[in-house]
Amino acid sequence: MVRAVVVGGSSGMGSAFARHAVRQGGEVIICSRSQEKLDKAADAIASAGGEGARERVRTKVLDNTNEEEVKKFFEELPPSSFDALVVTALGRAAHGSFLQLETSKAREVMEGKLWGPWYCAKYGAPKMAAGGAIVFVSGVLNRRPGLNCSPLGAANGAVEALTRSLALELGPQLRVNCLSPGFVDTERFDHMEAEKKTQMMDATAASLPLKCVGDPDVIGEALYFLATNKFTTGVVLDVDGGHQIRQYALPNDVYHSLRASGTLPAIFQLQP
Ligand SMILES: NC(=O)c1ccc[n+]([C@@H]2O[C@H](COP(=O)([O-])OP(=O)(O)OC[C@H]3O[C@@H](n4cnc5c(N)ncnc54)[C@H](OP(=O)(O)O)[C@@H]3O)[C@@H](O)[C@H]2O)c1
Repeated sequence: MVRAVVVGGSSGMGSAFARHAVRQGGEVIICSRSQEKLDKAADAIASAGGEGARERVRTKVLDNTNEEEVKKFFEELPPSSFDALVVTALGRAAHGSFLQLETSKAREVMEGKLWGPWYCAKYGAPKMAAGGAIVFVSGVLNRRPGLNCSPLGAANGAVEALTRSLALELGPQLRVNCLSPGFVDTERFDHMEAEKKTQMMDATAASLPLKCVGDPDVIGEALYFLATNKFTTGVVLDVDGGHQIRQYALPNDVYHSLRASGTLPAIFQLQP
């Protein structure tokens, strides 16, 4: 039975992990910036866990980019009170051409994607039970970059490097792993126009060996594996429908000529 702190647990992959953990008899503290979202998510997570499960789902408002807030949250938890720390949190991430995107926007992505998990691990690890695990989330854009996605690409690479460093430094007390998802149909894309979102998901699915984008529940199970498997540490697990080996939807020369003439259809521009 896992006792987990899930930073980013009010939505998407974090919620899916929490649902799976609670279904297996575990208990979770889900954290995010909005109490309203947390309450809604806690009810949904508990309903997947059956009778009495609501008592095993607690909530905490936390902005993981605020180091003092993160420090205080973990300081207030009793020693050895949890054995999994899963960090999926990330707000809206800036996209844009490398030469034009304001540096401050790229820094914000680093704040959320690298420094947030960094603070959680730094202050959470000393409070974790021996034998427990930290799980971070990166993403395909590190090794399969997309146009206009340099901030997320760089941040994902940094998270993967941090995973390996911490696995070495925090072992054997703790294990540290990272999940690298491909496109997964979570609330992350809810701000998009429905038609554009469908086009983006369909175009991505068509380019993948498995011809589909990810289901959050499948990611939740993979996060659970990384959190609980006792002989797994320092790994980056790709759960991406084969994204690393996908083929381009258009031949390269056609793609570049459409792009150069400014007539590349939106369907091939895979960023939100
Ligand atoms: N979905 C994909 O296709 C995809 C692909 C590759 C990688 N990823 C990565 O996977 C991770 C999870 O993505 P997702 O799709 O599950 O996202 P999501 O559905 O948007 O969920 C993000 C969660 O993080 C919380 N959050 C955001 N900023 C926070 C902060 N500063 N402090 C604490 N909580 C915060 C959000 O709640 P509040 O708004 O209430 O704070 C929400 O619970 C992200 O790191 C993302 O980059 C996703």
